[in-house]
Amino acid sequence: MVKRICAVAVLVSVSWAGGLMESMAHAASPKDGEVALPADYANWPKFLSNVQREDTKQVRELYVNPGGAKACPTGVFPHGTRLVMELYEAKAEGETLVKGLDGKLVKGELAKLFVMEKNEGWGQDVPDHVKNGNWVFGAYGPDGKALAEDFTKCRACHAPLAQKDFVHRMDEFCASSQKAH
Ligand code: HEC
Repeated sequence: MVKRICAVAVLVSVSWAGGLMESMAHAASPKDGEVALPADYANWPKFLSNVQREDTKQVRELYVNPGGAKACPTGVFPHGTRLVMELYEAKAEGETLVKGLDGKLVKGELAKLFVMEKNEGWGQDVPDHVKNGNWVFGAYGPDGKALAEDFTKCRACHAPLAQKDFVHRMDEFCASSQKAH
């Protein structure tokens, strides 16, 4: 009887340890909404600047961490890449969007910040059709508080871009970073 209890105890502890190791391997994978807003992103390389979005009445500024900036020319971002996008309201007078002398939209208030981060094994706990490789998504208000966005929408719009590692303006970034070097 004692033996049996021991055997059970061993079995339980082995499977507990196995479970623990498994959860440690995945523990590092945050869910959408859980990726952090990097504190220092404004010092990172610019991914793209002054992106004009008349359709959404926004101007956007995109940043990439220094490791991720090395994604060209392979077009695949290394694990540990973080992308941050600032979404500014475009200035408007009534319904009309204001344009500067350069013909571009004028940046108003910062409305939101969107984040994408990828790491080994991340982003697998979602249905196949909205998998974005190992990317996980996050959204923050200008006060740094997490926003409860519908992350399935983010995933659905980025998912078709597997050939660009799920990053819409990869080509533009690679073209501009080639020019810079
Ligand atoms: C309808 C399509 C669509 C949806 C929905 C969408 N995105 Fe994007 N996302 C884009 C496009 C297009 C860009 C490129 C910048 C631009 O043109 O505004 C972009 C850019 C980004 C970037 C900068 C890196 C990159 O891929 O270029 C991040 C980060 C990002 N989106 C996160 C999110 C998050 C988080 C959500 C949901 C809260 C979201 N996106 C929803 C289309 C979308």
